[in-house]
Amino acid sequence: MPLVDLRDHEDFTANPYPYYAKLRTEGPVHRVRTREMDEVWLVVGHDEARAALADPRFSKDWRQIGDWDYESTAVSHNMLETDPPHHTRLRRLVAREFTPRRIEALRPRVQEITDRLLGAMLAAPGRTADLVAALAFPLPMTVICELLGVPDLDRETFRRLSNEVVAPTENDGKNSSVREMGAYLAELVEDKRCDGPADDLMSALIRTRHEDGDKLSPDELIGMAFLLLVAGHETTVNLISNGVRALLSHPGQLAALRADFDGLIDGAIEEMLRYDGPVETATYRFTRESVEYGGTVIPAGAPVLVALASAGRDPSRYPDPDRFDIRRAPQSHLAFGHGIHYCLGAPLARMEGRIAVRTLLERAPGLELAADEASLEWLPGMLIRGVRHLPVRW
Ligand code: HEM
Repeated sequence: MPLVDLRDHEDFTANPYPYYAKLRTEGPVHRVRTREMDEVWLVVGHDEARAALADPRFSKDWRQIGDWDYESTAVSHNMLETDPPHHTRLRRLVAREFTPRRIEALRPRVQEITDRLLGAMLAAPGRTADLVAALAFPLPMTVICELLGVPDLDRETFRRLSNEVVAPTENDGKNSSVREMGAYLAELVEDKRCDGPADDLMSALIRTRHEDGDKLSPDELIGMAFLLLVAGHETTVNLISNGVRALLSHPGQLAALRADFDGLIDGAIEEMLRYDGPVETATYRFTRESVEYGGTVIPAGAPVLVALASAGRDPSRYPDPDRFDIRRAPQSHLAFGHGIHYCLGAPLARMEGRIAVRTLLERAPGLELAADEASLEWLPGMLIRGVRHLPVRW
């Protein structure tokens, strides 16, 4: 199978959809070269993507398969980098704390934080702001810090490291940000342990370690804190900013939503996730054996990326897929993944997205983009899809 070099396309990061469309017409699975990998198998068809996400022949544990120039540190002891039975155990320990009740109880607080952030944004002189800095980043970051019980987290440091982990730039030699993040989180967990019992998620996870027959090891606690903090904000920030960008560039859809928030906000959030979701490709998977997918044989030990962004635009699943339509008939999408690694935080992300978008539009009449789309700076890499800044005016 020929190797497609995705690095040849300078505009791939800003708009990968035409490239995915072309690849889909040629087949559901391709061998590609990316900025990070010389050779990786890319699944672009919706049905194959859904199947691959739940296929036990693909492992998430890169330590078990192949030989990667990547150091295993405490942060990689997290459920997204493990397989059953280890994954089952880690997910069970956190899922029993990450209950719908705990999430639902956050609703008034999410509204309060949104109101405070928007109050500050709308009071700024000049009626312009960077929506990422004013709302899309601080909202999920504050919520996940409060949920975990680490309100004093140094957010600027954390954000710099976290950005570097999910969208590495050339400056990040030998994964130094991952090591720095591990050291930072080890200290955070230790401080939390010394603070004594509290009614938050991190304390509950630490208690689990003390009281249960089953315990999280110190490294697993760090891995859990890492995954929840990073997954808890790197994604939702882009649900809000990609979603608002889509609305502002589709005035008819925006007007319809403004006219009927109660009826349309849930569908609008689902359409934002399908049309331009925050996770472009799922995290790496590795073939345990040679696997045939969509007529293509992927050899054993190969890295595989499932392109969720491409699956969301597959015309065999979604009619007229490049049309942003918040009134689309409800249909599931893969933006939160599928199978045993399905996003643990989906209910929280949906709640934050609905509250943020609705409150923003209600409080900022006449909201519009304050920059040419072509001038926006995109996060590098194929994991997270989003812009660093989103200038708006009202
Ligand atoms: C719009 C926002 C979000 C999107 C689009 C999203 C998307 C995803 C996707 C696609 C996966 C699966 C990745 C894979 O299989 O390779 C995933 C897993 C995960 N997400 Fe999210 N996520 C979001 C928000 C959140 C939030 C707010 C949290 C936590 C507070 C969270 C926690 C997790 C965790 C812990 C996993 C790993 C689950 C496992 O391995 O069993 N996510 N997410």
